[in-house]
Amino acid sequence: MSEAFDAIVLGGGAAGLFCAATAGQRGARVLVIDHAPEVGRKIIISGGGRCNFTNIHTAPDRYISGNRHFAKSALARFSPRDFIDLVDAYGIAWHEKTLGQLFCDGSARQIVALLLEECAKGAVEMACGVPVSGVDHADGRFRVSFGGREASAPALVIATGGPSIPKMGASSFAYDLARQFGLKVVQPRPALVPLTLPGTEALFRELSGVSTEIIARVDGPWGKAAFREAALFTHRGLSGPAILQVSSYWQRGSSVTAQFLPDRAPGWLRAAKRDRPRTSLQRVLAEGLPERLAEALCDRLALAGELGALTDKALDAAEQRLAHWAFVPDGSEGFAKAEVTAGGIAVDGLSSRTMEATKMPGLYAIGEAVDVTGWLGGYNFQWAWASARAAGEAL
Ligand code: FDA
Repeated sequence: MSEAFDAIVLGGGAAGLFCAATAGQRGARVLVIDHAPEVGRKIIISGGGRCNFTNIHTAPDRYISGNRHFAKSALARFSPRDFIDLVDAYGIAWHEKTLGQLFCDGSARQIVALLLEECAKGAVEMACGVPVSGVDHADGRFRVSFGGREASAPALVIATGGPSIPKMGASSFAYDLARQFGLKVVQPRPALVPLTLPGTEALFRELSGVSTEIIARVDGPWGKAAFREAALFTHRGLSGPAILQVSSYWQRGSSVTAQFLPDRAPGWLRAAKRDRPRTSLQRVLAEGLPERLAEALCDRLALAGELGALTDKALDAAEQRLAHWAFVPDGSEGFAKAEVTAGGIAVDGLSSRTMEATKMPGLYAIGEAVDVTGWLGGYNFQWAWASARAAGEAL
């Protein structure tokens, strides 16, 4: 016997819970089904356990999507301020860490508690720890079989996220379901992910643990991107916020350019030679870079000895190279380490106002499952809240 609901939300993550709460509080009878034993697991581990729940600089150009206009409507109708007001209403203390990133002062579990309380206010029913065994559609209703039960509703929301961090219960379920109902899927790829360097760059892999501020740049199929933040050398390649950011724009075969010492004015090496001709290049570099990195860069530049013994031409060439140091990663650390999945359910089949499938009335897709991927720093949760609110108000 099928239990009747107004809406069934598949996935109890950030987007699914917020959507269910929104619809429930508007009077809809909502069921959330999640195969994980507890909801919101990615929220709990997010932001190092403090959840970077939004970014005050949220803007559509900070998202990658097959249609750069798609996210505009939802983001405009539910802003970071709206979510901050909710966080404040729950008395959750927060702070801005850097670059507009807002984190809880305490535990990310406070955000999960907020979402569960909002769901309770909307009398949302939860079914956790039960896999979905089948979904079909007939007579204007979606029927979902799960854990020996069956529920049906005229609306079904796909909020099962993407495949990043499978050990947290992430799966490609959203794409299978979307395809089942005729939606297209943009090839999913790991994003906000460390990049790996080939053996020819072993010199840099030996710098594991060394970090420095750079401007990282890529010019890929998803546009040009430049981020000024810390980069971290790892035993497999490159990580740190600057690299995670550009990884979302990177594709195999292309390079990532690092601008070392981004505050140095053009001609700074000639000036250093004039002022301190007896100093070595390595010493000068080490004034702004970690010692081991300065050594590795000098090694690659093959410029040993005192600055006074080097020609201006050689110093100009070194300066140029330091400002455009090209790394050609041979891959990424994949979905196992990716903070998000880029690509996903194609937005050209969805309404940007309601997230409803244009050719399958009653079917909605929200959050990370959709081909909208934000920068590092709270942008992905803001998309989860905004897309969830857009769908939740339409259910
Ligand atoms: P999400 O993945 O959160 O939820 C999907 C839900 O669906 C899960 O509960 C899952 O169990 C369930 N599910 C999956 N398959 C299913 C199936 N077959 N049947 C039933 N249920 C199924 N973002 C940010 O803005 N600030 C931050 O600080 C961080 N930090 C961060 C750290 C780490 C380590 C990771 C991995 C990610 C982040 N993120 C982040 C990204 C952020 O976590 C992500 O964008 C949102 O959780 C996406 O929310 P969704 O609800 O769309 O998916």
